[in-house]
Amino acid sequence: MRTIPVLLAIILASTAYAQQPTAINAFHYQVKKSVTASHGAVVSAHPLASQAGLQMLQQGGNAVDAAIATQLALAVVYPAAGNLGGGGFLVAHLKDGKDLAIDYREKAPSAASRNMYIDASGNANTKLSQDGHLASGVPGTVAGIFASLPYAKLTIQQLIAPAITLAEKGFAITEREANSLNATQEQFSKLNTQANAFVRKRPWKAGDTLVQKDLAATLKRISTNGRAGFYEGETAALIIAEMKRGKGLITEADLKAYEAKERPAVSFFYKDYRIVTMPLPSSGGVALQQMMGMVEKYPLAAWGFHSVSAMQLMIEAERRAYADRAQFLGDPDFVKVPVKQLTSAAYLRERMKDYNPRQAGSSKLTGAGTVYESDETTHLSVMDTEGNAVSVTTTLNGGYGSKVVVGGAGFFLNNEMDDFSVKPGVPNMYGLVGTEANAVAPGKRMLSSMTPTIVLKKDKPYIVAGTPGGSTIITSVFQTLLNILEFNLPTQQAVDAPKFHHQWLPDVVDVEEDFDETPLQGLRQMGYKVISRGAIGRTEVIKVNGKGQLEAVGDKRGDDSAAGY
Ligand code: GLY
Repeated sequence: MRTIPVLLAIILASTAYAQQPTAINAFHYQVKKSVTASHGAVVSAHPLASQAGLQMLQQGGNAVDAAIATQLALAVVYPAAGNLGGGGFLVAHLKDGKDLAIDYREKAPSAASRNMYIDASGNANTKLSQDGHLASGVPGTVAGIFASLPYAKLTIQQLIAPAITLAEKGFAITEREANSLNATQEQFSKLNTQANAFVRKRPWKAGDTLVQKDLAATLKRISTNGRAGFYEGETAALIIAEMKRGKGLITEADLKAYEAKERPAVSFFYKDYRIVTMPLPSSGGVALQQMMGMVEKYPLAAWGFHSVSAMQLMIEAERRAYADRAQFLGDPDFVKVPVKQLTSAAYLRERMKDYNPRQAGSSKLTGAGTVYESDETTHLSVMDTEGNAVSVTTTLNGGYGSKVVVGGAGFFLNNEMDDFSVKPGVPNMYGLVGTEANAVAPGKRMLSSMTPTIVLKKDKPYIVAGTPGGSTIITSVFQTLLNILEFNLPTQQAVDAPKFHHQWLPDVVDVEEDFDETPLQGLRQMGYKVISRGAIGRTEVIKVNGKGQLEAVGDKRGDDSAAGY
């Protein structure tokens, strides 16, 4: 393994650093699961990306600067989910008290249509919504970065520099990344006609250097030309050429027209805590507010962590929130969603009326409520010394998205079209079903589950949290928050504790393999079908401890790593 003083030149050129930035060594680095910091902290899915964010804080940047640099670095060092070719959401609570929610979710191309994934016999062809060129929505990530920039302090050139260096000079891949690339080689070869950095004849192994020259060139165009460096000019031409090769739908006009949107954040109280999270087109904020509202009046803390009573109540809240998700939620620019009603105390009380603490509920009997008027993602959390907190979840949808690399531009395109309801009642790759509210339409944003969240205590940032995991995102955030706020678990334990998940349909309780058998037996006796599965989520949390320090924790389930100073 080699040692390269990667960012020395950039660091020396920087004008406003608060402290000498810690150099990034792309060939010798360690996963740090937990860091306690006094000035600022970043936690993300990859140590090098967390370090890129840390450098920005040390250079005098704020939490938004760190979040942007971390996202850009993830696009290089975590190609399965970090991205330029996908989309995401940023939620922040800024030091001046402003809550911020930036929506840079992908949009359906203008040539998309309601039945584009239905074949001649009327069957849904989810292969087309999940793999290859037709699966991609118009990417939003780069627009999101430029919509976040007014809240940052450093220049885009400073923020993108670590990503460019990591792409151009390469970095040592982790064992997890090597395994993941090896497992996807066949699909990469099938779906791509142009050479790219990810396909090679001999298997990848831990410590191999991944160099991404095409991606470095794309990042440089963004550095020089701003958002036009992606949505226009050479990068746009390369995307259009890729679409033509694979019969995809994204056009030059779609790219030029794409815009990120600031939206009013979801904000609600859970007991004395104010929770700030993502509004539609993410279902995450609405569903989290519903679930927390449904459990709030019950004595969860007294029942105890992973007690049968607490788990059952949470499962029943999850069932009801996901039934409503399927029925009512979609892009608010296209469908009228009765959010106020769905989240009102009276509605949530009514929803829990048929909750029976001694017996499993049933998704046949409990559908959506009645009102009168829809896994590969990655999350990062940042807090700084100024009082800014930023929570960002971005996604390509599945691992490596559509598996299509834009020829000559070096980045994967998303397969986010599968987050639409391709046909009412037909499950997507996460088993989620939907209706008209989340049907495909030109220019529409597909419903998401991403739930970047901030908890405020006495109006100051207390917890920043979020996770990938498709449909399990909302229930993972729900459990992680309750693990801290109700069950008083230490931060690392709150993140690492085995998780469970219910999403209305299918009517089963998914649990992680390492879940304790005792409460599961209790649930089975009540009539629940419990199914063991692999890891749920990769949650990144920063929490302010009793001494006012930042406790940054990366999930045990991946290469997730914390950095701070
Ligand atoms: N692609 C996963 C989500 O947005 O929910």
